[in-house]
Amino acid sequence: MAELLWQKPGVAVDAQIQHFLAGDDVVLDREFFLHDIAASTAHAEGLQRIGILSVQELEGLKRELAALAEDFRAGRFVLDERYEDGHSAIEARLTERLGDAGRKIHTGRSRNDQVLVATRLWLKEKLARVARLSVEVARVALDRAAAEKDLPLPGYTHIQRAVVSSCGMWWAGWAEAFIDDAVRAQDTLRLVDCNPLGTAAGYGVNLGLDREHTTAALGFARMQVSPVYAQLSRGKFELAALEALGSATLDLRRIAWDLSLFTSAEFGFVSLPPQYTTGSSIMPNKRNPDVIELMRATHASVAAARTEIEQLLSLPSGYHRDLQASKGAIFHGFSRGLAALELLPALLANLEWRPERMRAAIDSGMYAPDVAVEAAIAGVPFREAYRAAAAAADRAGEGRTPEASLAARTSPGAAADLRLEELQARWARLGQG
Ligand code: ARG
Repeated sequence: MAELLWQKPGVAVDAQIQHFLAGDDVVLDREFFLHDIAASTAHAEGLQRIGILSVQELEGLKRELAALAEDFRAGRFVLDERYEDGHSAIEARLTERLGDAGRKIHTGRSRNDQVLVATRLWLKEKLARVARLSVEVARVALDRAAAEKDLPLPGYTHIQRAVVSSCGMWWAGWAEAFIDDAVRAQDTLRLVDCNPLGTAAGYGVNLGLDREHTTAALGFARMQVSPVYAQLSRGKFELAALEALGSATLDLRRIAWDLSLFTSAEFGFVSLPPQYTTGSSIMPNKRNPDVIELMRATHASVAAARTEIEQLLSLPSGYHRDLQASKGAIFHGFSRGLAALELLPALLANLEWRPERMRAAIDSGMYAPDVAVEAAIAGVPFREAYRAAAAAADRAGEGRTPEASLAARTSPGAAADLRLEELQARWARLGQG
C-alpha cells in the first residue's frame, strides 16, 4: 500500500488491522471517484482564490485531475488496495506528478468533508435518475390509461373478485403512484443538493475558504451551513435518498405482484413478450416471468440498505468511522433499484391484455354493488338495498354488461371520469421540478 496520509514515523502499520480498517472501502470509492475528482478541482480553485495556491499550481492541479479522470475512465488508472481510499489515491497521484502542488491540495480539507461532497454529488445524479424513470413509467401508464380506458378488467379486494373495473383505472392508479414517486425523488434531490465541502473535519478551519465558489462550481443549489450538521447529516441524507428510491421500488413491487398474478394461467389476463420470460432446466413446458419476480425482489435490497444505515446512525455527533459503512449500502441499494426501474417503462409498454379472459372473470356477483347503489338512488335506504342485493347477488349481473357498469361509474377519478387531464397536468409539472 502507498504511504498512509496519516502515518506516524516509527509506528509500524499492521497489515491485518489495516485490511480490516479499509475493508472494501477503496473498491467502493471507485463508484464516486469521478465526483471526488470534480470536488477536488473545485477545492483547488477555491484555494487559489484565497492565495494558498498560485495560478500555475492551480493549472497543474487541474490538468492532472483531468488526466486522472481520463485515465480512470479508460481503465488506465485502477483504484485498488494500493491506496487506503480514493481520497488518498488522488493526493498520491497529484503529489507524484506535481510535487508540492499535490502536497498542498488537502489544505483546509478533511476526508470527512471530501467523502460527504462526493456522496452528495453522486446521490444527486441517482435521484435525478429515479425521478426521470418514475416520470417515464407514469408516461406509459397515462398513455395506456387513455388508450385502454374502456377495456373491462375485474377489480379485486383481498385477491377476491370485487367489482367491475377497467384497464384505464388500473393504469391511472399506477400513473398517479409514479407521479408521487417522481415528486418524492425531486424533493429529496433538493434536500441533498447542498455543499458540505469546506466544513473540514466537522468544525470549520482557520482559513477563509471560498465556499461560495465551490458551491457554484459544483452546481449545488446552496451551501450546507453548519459544519457540525454536515457530519450529523451523513447517513441521514443517504437514508432520505433510499426512502425516495424505496417509494418507487415499493410501487414496483406491487405492480410486479399484479403482473405475476395476471400472467398466471389461473388469471391469464396478461401476456408478456417472450424476452421477459425464461425457461426451466427440467420442465420443457415452462415460461417463467423471472423479470417481474426479480423486479419484485428489488425492494428488499433497498429496504435492507435503509435499515443498515439506520442502524449505523446510533452515534454521538461528530465523525465516526462507522459512517464509512453507509457507502456499500447506498451503492448496493441504488444499483439494484435503478437496474429494475430502468426496465419497467418498456415492460409496461409491451405487455398485452387478453380481453376475453378478463371479461370471463367478471361474474354476476360483481354487479351487486351497482344494484345496491341504484336502489339507494331510487330512495331505498342503502343498508336495506345492500341486503336485498346480497340476497340476489347471483342474479345481479342479469341484463348488465361491464361497459354499462363502467359508464355509470361517474364519481371523479372513476371509470367514466378518469380525470386523466388532472394527472397529465401534474405529470407536466414534473418536467419543471
Ligand atoms: N473512508 C472514510 C469514510 O467513508 C473517509 C473518511 C475518513 N476519515 C477519517 N477520519 N478516518 O468515512
